[in-house]
Amino acid sequence: MKNLMSKYPRIQDLEPAASKKIPPFIHAYLAAGTGSGHTMLRNREALDAITFTPELMHGRYTPDLSTSLLGKTYALPFGVAPIGLSSMIWPLSEQHLATTAAKYQIPYTLSTVAAASIEDVGKKSNGRGWFQLYAPKNPDIMRSLLDRAEKADMQTLVVTADVPSPSRREDMRRAGAPIGSRNATTLTLPMLLQILQHPSWAIAALGLRGKLRFKNMEPYAPKNSSEPISHFIGSELNGSLNWEYLSEIRKYWKGTLLLKGVLRASDALRAVDTGVDGIVVSNHGGRQFDGNPASITALPSIRQAVGTTFPIIFDSGIRSGLDILRALAIGADFVLVGRPFLYGVAAIGRNGGDHVVQILEEEISNALLQIGAKNITELRQRLNF
Ligand SMILES: Cc1cc2nc3c(=O)[nH]c(=O)nc-3n(C[C@H](O)[C@H](O)[C@H](O)COP(=O)(O)O)c2cc1C
Repeated sequence: MKNLMSKYPRIQDLEPAASKKIPPFIHAYLAAGTGSGHTMLRNREALDAITFTPELMHGRYTPDLSTSLLGKTYALPFGVAPIGLSSMIWPLSEQHLATTAAKYQIPYTLSTVAAASIEDVGKKSNGRGWFQLYAPKNPDIMRSLLDRAEKADMQTLVVTADVPSPSRREDMRRAGAPIGSRNATTLTLPMLLQILQHPSWAIAALGLRGKLRFKNMEPYAPKNSSEPISHFIGSELNGSLNWEYLSEIRKYWKGTLLLKGVLRASDALRAVDTGVDGIVVSNHGGRQFDGNPASITALPSIRQAVGTTFPIIFDSGIRSGLDILRALAIGADFVLVGRPFLYGVAAIGRNGGDHVVQILEEEISNALLQIGAKNITELRQRLNF
């Protein structure tokens, strides 16, 4: 791993390597935001604007990075965010990242629209796996997915609320992705040409045989239908969630429930009233709406509204251990990291996620020492905000 740290000492060093290895229409799916990318940029600029003034003379110490969240202890204060179609970005990346997360005792969040199944990932996750739900229109499907998650020992459910409809993803269209096409899961000729120019992806993807899998949703698709499965999934998962539906989910799910995609204090309070155990402050990494505020600027008012002890998880734009500390200092209890883990797997292969964890861990420890903070309370005292 020493060589890897010289080659890729930061997350930003992984991204160009990943972009060389994956076909452009897939890279655009992973890397782009929506619209002109302003929300993504806002996430970056707002995080960069948060600084700490170090306090001197603390002598030698080893920061303790373990974190308790909702009755579980994680070795580090961050986990892997749900990324739909991860196995299209890099084949088997769900399995690889779940293995990494289990090894480092952090949560891996499996998307509803993953290729890998709840059952496979649950087995790998040692009770620390999280399952992300896009609420299906048919509540029987919702109940079946939750039964499967419970049986697979995925004890935390993340219900995503910030996708009321698909976003336009202009950069993906320009890169040749088949958005809106009838056969959105089948490879077209221009896509195949891009794939041929990216042989390491093509070799890794041989098992796909030109088709994407959706193992969580496949059991519910109509049998012998000529409709592509992407149509069935789109029609089930687009836009059915409302507060009543969230209440239904709350009644049915006995484990920990998180609501993801919260940016308004009033929504956070309503989520608390509906009985969720925690919220994820997120603008979906700038992928849904180009007029969103940076997620980090939404965090203080939400923390103020829900009080000091209600669990808040944060994501959107985290690219370093310093960014993780910024979010924790502003009021988050835990952080999710999305794209960097896929950059890691695409650049390095099955151990790419390990390298991402190691970068983030080293950066967090180092920044705490530079700041002169032994814990989050001291970190918050050094904040200039
Ligand atoms: C390619 C891609 C696919 C995503 N798919 C999902 C998903 O299926 N479910 C979900 O709740 N969020 C999804 N997200 C959002 C992430 O969970 C997370 O909110 C976001 O990536 C955080 O921003 P970051 O990538 O800058 O860390 C996706 C994000 C990306 C980049």
